Amino acid sequence: MSITAEQLAAAKEKFGQLLLEQSERVEKMKQQGDFLDYKAMDKIIIGVCGGDGIGPAITGQAQRVLEFLLKDEVEKGRVEFRVIDGLTIERRAAVQKAIPDDTLEELKACHVILKGPTTTPRKGDPWPNVESANVAMRKELDLFANVRPVRIPEQGIDWTFYRENTEGAYAVGSRGVHATDDLAVDFTVVTSQGTERIIRAAFEYAKANGKTRVTAVTKANIIKTTDGKFLDTFREIAKEYPGITADDWYIDIMTAKLIDETRRRDFQVVVLPNLYGDIITDEAAEFQGGVGTAGSANIGKRYAMFEAIHGSAPRMVAEGRAKYADPCSVIRAAAMLLSHIGYQKQADELYRALDICTITERRLVMTGHEDGATNEQFADYLMETIRGL
Ligand code: IPM
Ligand code: MG
Repeated sequence: MSITAEQLAAAKEKFGQLLLEQSERVEKMKQQGDFLDYKAMDKIIIGVCGGDGIGPAITGQAQRVLEFLLKDEVEKGRVEFRVIDGLTIERRAAVQKAIPDDTLEELKACHVILKGPTTTPRKGDPWPNVESANVAMRKELDLFANVRPVRIPEQGIDWTFYRENTEGAYAVGSRGVHATDDLAVDFTVVTSQGTERIIRAAFEYAKANGKTRVTAVTKANIIKTTDGKFLDTFREIAKEYPGITADDWYIDIMTAKLIDETRRRDFQVVVLPNLYGDIITDEAAEFQGGVGTAGSANIGKRYAMFEAIHGSAPRMVAEGRAKYADPCSVIRAAAMLLSHIGYQKQADELYRALDICTITERRLVMTGHEDGATNEQFADYLMETIRGL
């Protein structure tokens, strides 16, 4: 049977509601101020949110390393750490919310956040199908730029991905409509304000870091309205940066070109809508040694959040192996945090020590099992290495 008048009305009602909400979001973006100037601030509050699964174990070690590097700043009162532990799947399930209200308040009282992985429920899990805490945090704190660097110096690879983080297929990804039993519809949202700010951020990064090329990735030949808007905006903004080559690729061929050794090293800064950014940054991280080796920065004008890009590994916890989980990804995220709030010297020390401990010297090896080092031992090794730099 075709759609009934009631079903049609219900679907229209839901769609109307989405449009109202998204149009309110546009108005909020128009009012948005500029980025925080950390240099001018007397105090920076760093929230440490362990998440769940192996999250608290690895994030706790990253916090020890940060506290070690920022010891003087903490003593002077310039930096304060706050542990926020309410973001577990058990609590989120109990209150049926992606982020419990009190946890959100605690997060909002910080300036920057270091976050461990959080479990994202999916169909068939014992948990209610609440929205991903990651996605909710990006939206709640308006963290619109997901910055993911991938570097493999010996292969000439030095990529920085600027993934749009609050719109696209993710904006209302848990709010699709089952119009009838047979007909389901999801929505993709793109706004002028949301697109301009991510594209500008990518060009500004390129300009500030001596990069000569910014590449946009879309599927604008098929997804003509939203991806089309993203690409048109990219072309307009590119005109403001005459010294930078701006080119664009479709997501399918871009995915292929990343594997092409003769072409891939030419990419420098890549800017792309949310879903394509999600997919391609996993592919890119794989060349560097897997998603476990990458850190990710989620940057907005008022807040910034830094996270590991791997999952919460509940099986490791169930088998009593959380203390053997590799903390490198979240420690890399911590290095990005240091650099973001203006402690570049400490960030550089941490990157150097990470290279020594994981590549050149490797006195301790993490295997995820009893035969490997614990994350506490690894953090000790890192700090000892930093002392010796
Ligand atoms: C990522 C992850 C998240 C995403 C998940 C965990 C919601 O894959 O950070 O890339 O899809 O954005
Ligand atoms: Mg992903």
